[in-house]
Amino acid sequence: MTDTVPFLDLGRLHAELRADLDAAWHEAVDHAGFIGGAAVERFEADWAAYCGTRHAVGLSDGTAALELALAVLGVGPGDEVIVPANTFIATVEAVVKVGAVPVFADVEPTTLLLAPAAASAVIGPRTRAIIAVHLYGQPCDMDALGALAGRHGLALVEDAAQAHGATWRGRRVGSLGSIGCFSFYPGKNLGAFGDAGAVTTDDAQLAAAIRSRANHGRPPAAAERCDVLDGNHRLDALQAAVLTIKLRHLDRWNAARAAVMQRYLQGLAGAGVAFTRIREEATSSHHLAVALVPDRDEVRRRLAAAGIATGIHYAIPCHRQPACAALVAAARHAPHVPVVDATAGRLLSLPLFPQLTEPEVQRVIDALAAILATIDPAIVEHAA
Ligand SMILES: Cc1ncc(COP(=O)(O)O)c(C=O)c1O
Repeated sequence: MTDTVPFLDLGRLHAELRADLDAAWHEAVDHAGFIGGAAVERFEADWAAYCGTRHAVGLSDGTAALELALAVLGVGPGDEVIVPANTFIATVEAVVKVGAVPVFADVEPTTLLLAPAAASAVIGPRTRAIIAVHLYGQPCDMDALGALAGRHGLALVEDAAQAHGATWRGRRVGSLGSIGCFSFYPGKNLGAFGDAGAVTTDDAQLAAAIRSRANHGRPPAAAERCDVLDGNHRLDALQAAVLTIKLRHLDRWNAARAAVMQRYLQGLAGAGVAFTRIREEATSSHHLAVALVPDRDEVRRRLAAAGIATGIHYAIPCHRQPACAALVAAARHAPHVPVVDATAGRLLSLPLFPQLTEPEVQRVIDALAAILATIDPAIVEHAA
């Protein structure tokens, strides 16, 4: 029995950094400073510099980042926010948490990212914001979405939870809209040892408002006063220390991911599989290697039998989630998202992480090509 090719193996990544990570843990214990303080300030400064923004605020998780971004932009009850129907459900949750209504828009067929024309088509009198989700690691078309938001006076929030380090026309994500929102969930390209997140922005007032809301609504200079009832969404110092160490390696890891992706593209050319296309203006963080395959569930089952782990991002589009049924029923228009509906059943994410070895990559290519060669050509033709 051969070993499994894992979908993601964080153990290999942490082995590279073991000494630094152990030292960070000891330092945190020695100083007993677990909330706020120098470690958090340092990571915030490093992350802002990396993203090319004036400010970064460390937070408890990416969902909080999205929620706080919308809240400080003044999005609330009665407002609508445009979201792609193909995203992780947290994008939708954040809109609902601030009391606004998510309006689902379709994605582009080649990138599977929010389609500017589809976003434009669902703008109404109550639309206040667009969330550009840089899904799978690639930035959305920020020229078109920026122009659209500008024309209609809308806030443009980036959900960059999967796109650490990706660029649009040479600028890093997180610096392309009103506020950038990041998750540092352990499996992300930059991942903590638990939940963590951040926002980035050039706007000092927005950054201060998020910092305050994340800390029980207390302004930085007046710890006794509470200006707004929100809660606790702080980044803790141990996570910040881990993130500071890992950030030094992010570009190298992203390059290693890109190399794996290149191997998949070359090795599977002509095999009946289509990968999401990267635009000329963009670079991707290659968070996920998403393929469109025919007979997806059978292909996935046979890959598993061959010892290859895969994922699906996402099996149920947001507008079809049971939790969204009432929203959809009450919507101005039923969601019109034909590309999302047509592709959801064909999505398959292949193993992709920086330490994946060349023999493992070759095994994935050989196994997938062999499986696809046995699929009915009519199904392959239809799916291509
Ligand atoms: C696109 C997207 N948005 C938001 C989130 C939410 O981040 P978190 O899990 O840190 O709350 C995630 C992460 O899972 C994500 O992939």
